[in-house]
Amino acid sequence: MKAIYPGSFDPVTYGHLDIIERCANKFDTVIIAVLNNIQKQSLFSVEERIALLKETTKDFPNVEIDTFSGLLTEYAKSKNCSTIIRGLRAVSDFEYEMQMALVNKKTYNDMETLFMVSNAEHVYLSSSIVKEVSYYGGEIACFVPKVVEDALTNKFKGGL
Ligand code: PNS
Repeated sequence: MKAIYPGSFDPVTYGHLDIIERCANKFDTVIIAVLNNIQKQSLFSVEERIALLKETTKDFPNVEIDTFSGLLTEYAKSKNCSTIIRGLRAVSDFEYEMQMALVNKKTYNDMETLFMVSNAEHVYLSSSIVKEVSYYGGEIACFVPKVVEDALTNKFKGGL
């Protein structure tokens, strides 16, 4: 069975990687679909986000990295896949995730969203918080792999 794990991944964190590893153990193929949306401001370009994901998931042979724009359900149809995985960290995630899952179901009735509860170690973690800590020169080695840490340090070198 195939599943899509969509997101911004700006950049990938240990929270994402935990979900990816657990999905890779449950599904034959996991497609990580990186959102390419020019309206959504991101720190890393799609190419950079993909490169970081490729590097950090290279030990999982059944994980593919791809990018999509437009509706997720249209992308899922084009991949012949009707299973979406989303990580759920806290109650605060729930409202938005529920709304997305229901809208996706409405636009593609076969589409099922499966929620994977984040590892307790990562419930507080988000790409935004990691970017903020890194921006102010804080320690981020416990939040992201070295390659991502270096990419963030590089981005913020000399300010934005
Ligand atoms: O990592 P994120 O930013 O929480 O991921 C959000 C994402 C990419 C899954 C969501 O914004 C999305 O699916 N965007 C594509 C546009 C779409 O299909 N919108 C309708 C569902 S709300």
